[in-house]
Amino acid sequence: MNKRGPIALGAKGFLKRIHHSAWAWDLFQGPVYNCLIFKAAADYFDALIRLTGRGAPARILDVGSGAVVMSLRQTQAHPEATVVGIDYALMQVRAAKRLKKKKQIHNCSFQQGNAMALPFAEAAFDRVVSVNSIKHWPDPVRGLSEIRRVLCPRGQAFISEADRSASPEALLAFSENYRAWYIWDALMRWCLKNVVFGKSYTAAELKTISAQAGFRDAIVAGPPGPFFILVLTK
Ligand SMILES: C[S@@+](CC[C@H](N)C(=O)[O-])C[C@H]1O[C@@H](n2cnc3c(N)ncnc32)[C@H](O)[C@@H]1O
Repeated sequence: MNKRGPIALGAKGFLKRIHHSAWAWDLFQGPVYNCLIFKAAADYFDALIRLTGRGAPARILDVGSGAVVMSLRQTQAHPEATVVGIDYALMQVRAAKRLKKKKQIHNCSFQQGNAMALPFAEAAFDRVVSVNSIKHWPDPVRGLSEIRRVLCPRGQAFISEADRSASPEALLAFSENYRAWYIWDALMRWCLKNVVFGKSYTAAELKTISAQAGFRDAIVAGPPGPFFILVLTK
């Protein structure tokens, strides 16, 4: 038994459940993230769009697509590609569909589904992108194995995350862009340090996980900053 006893274990378990559950995204994590992240991490999203859109027209899957500003920007930047977004939070999927309709974008579709069991055939996609989602998956090896399964031979996955080893200075600089009047600055910095980045992975850890999922090749890419992009080739 944990030295801190059953109450501490219970609180830890409860926080873990919140971190992994779809309803928590629907209720509060999603809206806060959707409002703040795109402005705060614009360079990093631009880099992802450049990387995933390179080369011939592609069938792209976005796993944990959220409110899909990223997928929609992708379809606008690469009108010849088709993008499918999948997310387990119903409200995120609804927000995605509303945005698609509002922006009149036709080469994308969104559906509810779990990264742990992707509802697609083998080799259905040329590229898979997943942005800031893998740290919420209960079994990242299984999720990456699923991604590998739906990728075509030599297909690539672009997995990006908050870097748990980001320096305090990088986090402080990022938190300056992540400000909102309705969240107390000190609380926001605490959440960034202990939850968003603190409960994430380092690039080295995700490389190891991707090897366990069967990817042979993993390269770290992306602009300097507190996030990284891992490029995996099947
Ligand atoms: C931080 S948001 C990122 C959303 C989007 N990729 C973006 O960058 O705007 C994480 C998303 O992953 C989704 N998610 C978490 N676990 C998931 C799972 N097991 N299967 C599918 N989606 C999941 C959440 O519902 C949420 O929308």
